[in-house]
Amino acid sequence: MDKRVQLTTSPATSVLENIKTRRTVRDFTDRAVPDSVLHTILDAAVWAPNHRMTEPWRFYVLGKSGEARQRAADLTHDWTLHNIPNQNQAQSSADAVRAEMLAAPALIYVYSLSGGSAEIDEENYSATSCAVQNLMLAAHAHGLGVGWSTGKPTRHPGVTELLGAEPDSKIVGCLYIGYPAAVPQSKRQDASDVTRWL
Ligand SMILES: Cc1cc2nc3c(=O)[nH]c(=O)nc-3n(C[C@H](O)[C@H](O)[C@H](O)COP(=O)(O)O)c2cc1C
Repeated sequence: MDKRVQLTTSPATSVLENIKTRRTVRDFTDRAVPDSVLHTILDAAVWAPNHRMTEPWRFYVLGKSGEARQRAADLTHDWTLHNIPNQNQAQSSADAVRAEMLAAPALIYVYSLSGGSAEIDEENYSATSCAVQNLMLAAHAHGLGVGWSTGKPTRHPGVTELLGAEPDSKIVGCLYIGYPAAVPQSKRQDASDVTRWL
């Protein structure tokens, strides 16, 4: 049988709708995210394209009441307290980010492995970013929202050691995941404004 004609994906129209209606979400209901759904979106992530088949992504799922979640939130609190430029807001900002990390129904850290050269590191980082987008689109298809953060939760160097990530890997983000309580609006320039046809 010719495998090229097996139709196992959704029609393009629903893929396009999924892409365009996905939004960054950071405001979640209390509803728990079943592990089975987390498995499904992680499985979507690992089907991202990756040059040389390095499969460079690594995921760390921090259970809601687990020790790792608490320690990552505490490290982030500590980093925020001492590093944000406006020290007048340091305490409230540190408290807020810790509370948000503890409250998120699901929390996943994503790392990209080093490939031993600047070229492969860059390819790996790009591939892992594709994996995150896969995960976010799969999450959206399951009614979940995701907030990708490269901010405070990713800054304390102790997080990498806490998670057991490779020391020379690169942190790609901390993903807040849950069922949306509110979905923000977003906008884009028209593709024709950012495209030159030559
Ligand atoms: C690499 C990357 C890092 C991001 N980091 C943050 C972040 O640290 N904090 C945040 O609020 N949003 C972050 N975002 C989400 C963007 O702000 C968001 O995608 C953008 O506002 C467009 O909104 P949309 O995703 O709903 O279309 C990040 C997105 C990407 C792709």
